[in-house]
Amino acid sequence: MSQHDLFSPIALGDLQLRSRIVMAPLTRCRASAGNVPNALNVEYYRQRASAGLIISEATQVVPEGQGYPTTPGIHSGAQVEGWKKITDVVHAAGSKMVLQLWHVGRVSHLVFQPDGKLPVAPSAIAPKGQLYDNAWKKIDYVAPRALELSEIPGVIAGYVKGAENAKLAGFDGVEVHGANGYLLDQFLRDSTNKRADAYGGSVQNRARLMLEVTEAVVGVWGASRVGIRLSPLNPNNDIADSDPKGTFGYVARELAKLKLAYVHVLEDVKTPPGDEVTSTIKAAWGAPVVANFGYTLETAQAAIREGRADAIAFGKLFIANPDLPKRLAAGGPFNEWDMKAFYGGTEKGYTDYPALG
Ligand SMILES: Cc1cc2nc3c(=O)[nH]c(=O)nc-3n(C[C@H](O)[C@H](O)[C@H](O)COP(=O)(O)O)c2cc1C
Repeated sequence: MSQHDLFSPIALGDLQLRSRIVMAPLTRCRASAGNVPNALNVEYYRQRASAGLIISEATQVVPEGQGYPTTPGIHSGAQVEGWKKITDVVHAAGSKMVLQLWHVGRVSHLVFQPDGKLPVAPSAIAPKGQLYDNAWKKIDYVAPRALELSEIPGVIAGYVKGAENAKLAGFDGVEVHGANGYLLDQFLRDSTNKRADAYGGSVQNRARLMLEVTEAVVGVWGASRVGIRLSPLNPNNDIADSDPKGTFGYVARELAKLKLAYVHVLEDVKTPPGDEVTSTIKAAWGAPVVANFGYTLETAQAAIREGRADAIAFGKLFIANPDLPKRLAAGGPFNEWDMKAFYGGTEKGYTDYPALG
């Protein structure tokens, strides 16, 4: 049992938060030309800056890392300038903000790639299903190109550059996106990684890229300002693992050695109060845990009180409720989210959700 509740302060490494209420990373596909954050994005984050911590929407570290229309990047000077305006308003409101470092790997298409090349991945296996192109038309995924061993240092360098740019843009730290079937998760899982070199095969090899990227990013920020997101049981983007407990037990033990600010786990809500794999990660971790997936005021408070999490990330509730901490403190009411406005568009379903009077 813990004496703390959702509204008490906490330190995640060197990130001093005024509450344990975290805004989850939320892709909204509303950047301007060049994938540059704009004034509307500034307003969206400003409205939500009463959170203890804001995790930015996933942000591609290199042009090749993009897989959706108008998602922001952190690889150009204009993008850094755009993000700087966001971190300024978030800081002015007393909140902290980390950037989620993203490379989608195979969850992309020629239409998003520089020079219309194939997307890259651990192995040449297409995800099942379809994606949206730049005109929001559904198209089939393609089989990606397997990265050459000699290209791996370049991939790591992309994350390092993104982490350096996040510093220039005024963030308080970064979150390595190791979740949801994107590049690092693709390397980690045996359904998407069929490599026969040092980055495939055993769990030690499959985890290598995630660990090397995280270590390299720690080299930029220091461990106390770096978190990582994992989603052991999320099948999104056609990802699977024959032994999630073994895979994530190993990864968590190795990541724990880096003494990061936090691990952010997307849990399996089907097995409340927590699934076995998440418990394995938490047991190996020994440092702050940010938990996410379907939390409400009641389940969030219970998780903190019972010591199952140190902070809670809210996704859809933060989309629909710009003043979510105030509403949680008041016990509601909560606005409903509009799924149709999640991705793309303008202020409708983005910055027009009402705050409490
Ligand atoms: C519109 C939308 C965009 C999302 N974008 C991201 C993202 O950029 N990065 C990420 O790690 N997860 C992303 N997620 C997952 C959320 O961070 C979160 O894990 C999920 O919504 C479950 O939490 P909730 O039940 O509190 O909404 C997204 C989810 C939604 C609904």
